Amino acid sequence: MTEDSFSLSGKVAVVTGASRGLGQFFSRALARAGADLVITSRRVADLKPFAEKIKGMGRQVFPLELDVRRTESIQKTADVAWEHFGKIDILINNAGCNVRKPALDITSDDWNLVLETNLRGTFFVAQAFARHMVKRGYGRIINIGSVTSVFGYAGIAPYCASRGGIKQLTMSLADEWGKFGVTVNCLAPGWFHTEQNDVLYQNQKWVEYITDRIPLKRPGQPEDLGGAAVFLASDVSGYITGQTLLVDGGISTGATRATA
Ligand SMILES: NC(=O)c1ccc[n+]([C@@H]2O[C@H](COP(=O)([O-])OP(=O)(O)OC[C@H]3O[C@@H](n4cnc5c(N)ncnc54)[C@H](OP(=O)(O)O)[C@@H]3O)[C@@H](O)[C@H]2O)c1
Repeated sequence: MTEDSFSLSGKVAVVTGASRGLGQFFSRALARAGADLVITSRRVADLKPFAEKIKGMGRQVFPLELDVRRTESIQKTADVAWEHFGKIDILINNAGCNVRKPALDITSDDWNLVLETNLRGTFFVAQAFARHMVKRGYGRIINIGSVTSVFGYAGIAPYCASRGGIKQLTMSLADEWGKFGVTVNCLAPGWFHTEQNDVLYQNQKWVEYITDRIPLKRPGQPEDLGGAAVFLASDVSGYITGQTLLVDGGISTGATRATA
């Protein structure tokens, strides 16, 4: 290993769902490590201000429209991205959504929205880029999971089902594409303050509750995710595939205490 082992200089990464939140945390971390970027959102105009920031970091950036529920358009988007840079080394499969409702109130539309975006979207985006990566014999696919990939929580049943599915999907794809030089891992964040979780962070009681249960005694900050993303995207993680890496301050060590 050299001091450059974590460098992403000369690499090209795609980050889906980069119009806000974690997608921007991941994009900044990869750009800081040297990667050029393809960033996506359902409305390309929403990417423009962030694209300027990435350019300001001295990186090339290509904003693209992508709705991960429109499976028929995903391959075309992957082809356009590949053609633009001539290769894609890294995919961060981050686009996602949530519906917060008691399980008894979930409709089939709620279920379809969450599962189609998070699980089906993750699969077909991975497939579209992997078609190129497999041919080239190199790729780093990072599917975004969650603590809900390994634990179930009341009030977000479809979301937990989708994130658990992503963990399992990651293992299957890793098994299938490893022989082509493509690694597939799952990066599973804890509870970060983004638009998706704003409703939780508005509630001071919840913030105190969750902070108390996190062994490191603080909610996650954007920079807490960067290291794990760069690690899984870089060549140093070349012998790691099919794994789920929790970046959650340790909350997944257990939510209850065994001592009084
Ligand atoms: N925040 C957390 O603590 C946390 C923890 C674990 C996992 N996650 C997961 O990490 C991902 C990002 O989370 P976040 O908190 O940053 O969420 P967010 O603030 O709600 O952002 C979601 C992103 O996904 C994109 N998106 C949503 N539906 C899409 C679709 N159909 N097609 C394409 N893009 C779509 C959105 O882009 P547009 O609306 O511009 O299209 C946006 O950029 C999500 O998958 C989330 O479930 C979040």
